[in-house]
Amino acid sequence: MDARDLLRSFRMAGSASGRLAARSAWRRRRTDTRDLVRHGPERARVPGAALDADPQAGGGTVRFTRSSLRIRVAVGGAVFCGWDGAGPEPSYALAGGGAGGGGCPAADTRAVLEPDKDGWRVVSERMTVLVSRQGTVEIRTPGGLLLRRELPPRWWDPVGRTESAGRRWVQRSETPADARVYGLGGRAAGPRLPAGGYRLWNTDPGGSFGPGDDPLYITMPVQLVVADAGCHLIFHDSTWDGQVTLRDGEEGAGSGHDRPGGCEVRMDGGPLRYWVIAGTPARILAGWTALTGRPALPPRWALGHQHSRWGFGSEQEVRRVAAGYREHGLPLSVLHLDIDHLDGNRVFTVDRRRFPDLPGMAAELAGQGVRLVSIVDPAVKAEPGVAAYDGGIAADAFVRDARGGRVRGVVWPGEAVFPDFTDPAARSWWGGLYAERLAQGFAGVWHDMNEPVSFAAFGDATLPRSARHVLEGRGGDHREAHNVYGLAMARAGYEGLRRLRPEQRPFLFSRSGWVGMQRYGGTWSGDVATGWEGLRASLALVLGLGLCGVPYSGPDVGGFTGTPSPELYLRWFQLGAYLPFFRTHSAIGAGRREPWEFGPEVLAHAREALAGRMRLLPYLETLSHIARGTGAPYVRPLWWGSPGDRALRECGDAFLLGDALLVAPVLEPGAVSRTVRLPRGRWYDTVTGAVHRGRGQVVLDAPPDRIPVLARAGSVLPVAGADGAVELEAWAPRQGRTGSGVVFTGDPEGWDAPRMERFVSRWVDGEVVVERDGGGEPGYRVRVRGAAS
Ligand code: NOJ
Repeated sequence: MDARDLLRSFRMAGSASGRLAARSAWRRRRTDTRDLVRHGPERARVPGAALDADPQAGGGTVRFTRSSLRIRVAVGGAVFCGWDGAGPEPSYALAGGGAGGGGCPAADTRAVLEPDKDGWRVVSERMTVLVSRQGTVEIRTPGGLLLRRELPPRWWDPVGRTESAGRRWVQRSETPADARVYGLGGRAAGPRLPAGGYRLWNTDPGGSFGPGDDPLYITMPVQLVVADAGCHLIFHDSTWDGQVTLRDGEEGAGSGHDRPGGCEVRMDGGPLRYWVIAGTPARILAGWTALTGRPALPPRWALGHQHSRWGFGSEQEVRRVAAGYREHGLPLSVLHLDIDHLDGNRVFTVDRRRFPDLPGMAAELAGQGVRLVSIVDPAVKAEPGVAAYDGGIAADAFVRDARGGRVRGVVWPGEAVFPDFTDPAARSWWGGLYAERLAQGFAGVWHDMNEPVSFAAFGDATLPRSARHVLEGRGGDHREAHNVYGLAMARAGYEGLRRLRPEQRPFLFSRSGWVGMQRYGGTWSGDVATGWEGLRASLALVLGLGLCGVPYSGPDVGGFTGTPSPELYLRWFQLGAYLPFFRTHSAIGAGRREPWEFGPEVLAHAREALAGRMRLLPYLETLSHIARGTGAPYVRPLWWGSPGDRALRECGDAFLLGDALLVAPVLEPGAVSRTVRLPRGRWYDTVTGAVHRGRGQVVLDAPPDRIPVLARAGSVLPVAGADGAVELEAWAPRQGRTGSGVVFTGDPEGWDAPRMERFVSRWVDGEVVVERDGGGEPGYRVRVRGAAS
């Protein structure tokens, strides 16, 4: 027990739930002491010298004295490297069925392992892989520039045990001195990850978090590396607890003595295997989401404004909030009901005293264009008579310990048991329970507490590491299953909703997850602390997750805890209005988050932000289809189109929304202007029409009523006109140049394929005209902007 634990247990000791949490922590410790196989003596091992090589389809295998390395180029360009006999499957990350993921793309048979100067090489379209006789693997661009050098790995083999799953390993690597790293899931310290250690263990920080808190709810062994030589993504496909330590490089100022940057990946177990994808950021995300699954397409209504609170407490209050939005003329698309609408916090129940007619209220709200979304926690109260408990017992769906007893923990409803979502039968049983939510009138679900959390007065607030999991039939313990618990729960929920309501796209977002979670839905920031730092962290999370393939996310606007100042609330709201998931939310006991609670000035400015959001809905819908089709996130770092611009790699205070817009939120108190670093090209201030030229830095006005938003010259984007009809907004290209844009219009809630239209703009006789690609009237009202400048 460390000092933090001690403090936590003192704080908890007074209350009944505190006593439960203390008991649960002791129980967890006892279980692990009893059941977890101790680390006995270990022997370190490195691959040794190469013996020979065996070419196979798409690559081949190099044999070393004490290991082997398999290389396989997949169709689409991703390269797989697996040490010690590891293959790409089974994997929770890969898209397409099988082991909770499973489908590995076919080998690109054009690539072959062939002898090279000091070893072997595999040449593929996007990169060359060089393997040295000592086991160093270099990833180079087709032109020969070094992207990454993986040094020979090291394992610690348990002496006298054969099971390989719990074998620890470490892999060190080098990257060019100028390389910058992004990703690793949702990290508050990002988007550009500073040097230091990042744990790979999904964690509820408890209470709320700020920029220094790490890890958080979603960790992923995924790094997107940007350097002058080129960009690449590396994914170490092991679900075990681990640590990535990033090291910054140093440039020798032309002396030729650069100190490379790099990283060390240490894992407590799982196969030593990784995937590398190289190319432009757009190509990387396309390749990455081809491998791990394209993002689910949210229904159109999930792009509107959403409001939530832990503690509405009654139907009257929910109605009051909905009426408030109406009366203040503020558009509202969704209301979220948190655990306080449940009967004693029990999942899949309703507190009928305070919510006597949920289906009636849902229908009434639907009539006003407002959907209801329900929280769903995985923990089921361990109480006979509770339908989810009885059903789970009958289906044998709950996690057991090594002796066959059901693992118990403590969450909001008290003593609880946990479905084993790594069991296909448990997933299918759980998915069926969503019928109850649909019958209550809910249109979507919000998965929470699925790291999974079990309150603990000390130690790790999750299940015992020795808890057993089915792991798709392979069997294993919580050390391997922990990080994919939320991912597998998302799969259960998504597949359940698809079965129950096949005609509609599920709306699901989940606090925890892992690689591939985008297949099932999105996520949100979790309990971001109210404060300016929390505001900055919430943007870092959205950007970082987008680069890991999860494009639909957003923060608790206003922060989860306490009461934001009117200024902080407004600035958060103005940022949120440009993020895919735009939801105000707060903790029980925290201050209100309705826009009219912060005075008339904030109300007026929030109204403008909402109007801006409504206007952008057709563009956001287009971006949702682009994300679905190509993996490109809606929210992109400024370097997205120009990764060679080193200054942009450091910028985490502004972002691109699709190709057309650059959004520069205000992240500092008292600011009424801010500097913005522009990517190359010509940018228009969307309000004043002023022209700015990138690259370089500009100072832009940021009065309380708006944050700076710039449009890229030549872009054509769909917006909602004053009458609600879609119109094209075309920002003049430079004289003599052309511009373009696409518009996707799709089925708002169903599965019909969307329609894609492409438009081009050009100067004709001193005027900008917009036509369909290939000629012809655009078929939409067109507003040309910026042509006078
Ligand atoms: C933790 C979630 O992060 C938060 O959003 C929610 O309000 C509480 N759990 C209560 O359900």
